[in-house]
Amino acid sequence: MNVVIERGRRGRPFYASVSTEEAVFKAAYRQGLSIALKGPTGCGKTRFVEAMAHDLDRPLITVACHDDLTAADLVGRYLLRGGATEWVDGPLTRAVREGAICYLDEVVEARQDTTVVLHPLADHRRSLPIERLGITVDAAPGFGLVVSYNPGYQSVLKDLKDSTRQRMVAIEFEYPAPDVEGAIIVAEAGVPESCAAELVRLGQAIRRLETGGLREVASTRVLIAAARLMVDGVAPRIAARAAIVGPLTDDPAVSRGLVGMIEVYLSETTPPEND
Ligand SMILES: Nc1ncnc2c1ncn2[C@@H]1O[C@H](COP(=O)(O)OP(=O)(O)OP(=O)(O)O)[C@@H](O)[C@H]1O
Ligand SMILES: [Mg+2]
Repeated sequence: MNVVIERGRRGRPFYASVSTEEAVFKAAYRQGLSIALKGPTGCGKTRFVEAMAHDLDRPLITVACHDDLTAADLVGRYLLRGGATEWVDGPLTRAVREGAICYLDEVVEARQDTTVVLHPLADHRRSLPIERLGITVDAAPGFGLVVSYNPGYQSVLKDLKDSTRQRMVAIEFEYPAPDVEGAIIVAEAGVPESCAAELVRLGQAIRRLETGGLREVASTRVLIAAARLMVDGVAPRIAARAAIVGPLTDDPAVSRGLVGMIEVYLSETTPPEND
């Protein structure tokens, strides 16, 4: 089953700007250009799209892509209902008809023959041909197409076709600068600033390791998870082992190295409120 999340209109999801991403996103959206968000796991891509959909006052329809995803999963299919067949729009078609923002998360996971259905939507045509119905639906005003992927995970087998890539404006995400990342950890977990600052320094040190046996470095997400354990009373070093080391590696030697770093960067007990 595809995971399709629809967000209602509530308050603005908390998103701290990292660079020029908001201006580029909004300009691209206004110009009817499709957008590709590129960046490592846990750096804020999903949260960013949620905040942009809120600012632009558009519903957001999110599809988690995977390698079994078919064009019919996106566009729609006939389903048997009470003895009769009935056409049911897929999430992409619904977004096109409603003028919503359609966000295809981890789009490189989808096969290339699936992503080609995006082509007429992602260029000047802004329309979606639905072969099974023999119709072409023009995108309603407000429709936007956004995809995301993590370039680090890409293999030769899993890549977007050049013809798909060149239909999109790319926004590259990096982990936030230390002060911004600290503010994000404070806002998301409610830890004291000094505590967030220690976690940020640890995160920075892990990111400087280059490879060091790690497939991925410490994301903002794992730093927030450690901070959440800490607010709930877990000692900083134990919290970091559980939320940072465990998720990053299964290798005992690499794990020992990271635990050593934790001892260097984190206090034994939670630092007092804003020292
Ligand atoms: N700039 C930011 N502003 C606010 N929160 C952020 C920001 N960056 C990261 N976060 C926090 O980090 C968490 C992870 O971010 P998010 O889920 O958006 O990452 P992602 O880039 O979509 O990751 P993935 O590629 O794994 O899906 C969010 O839940 C949020 O708490
Ligand atoms: Mg995401």
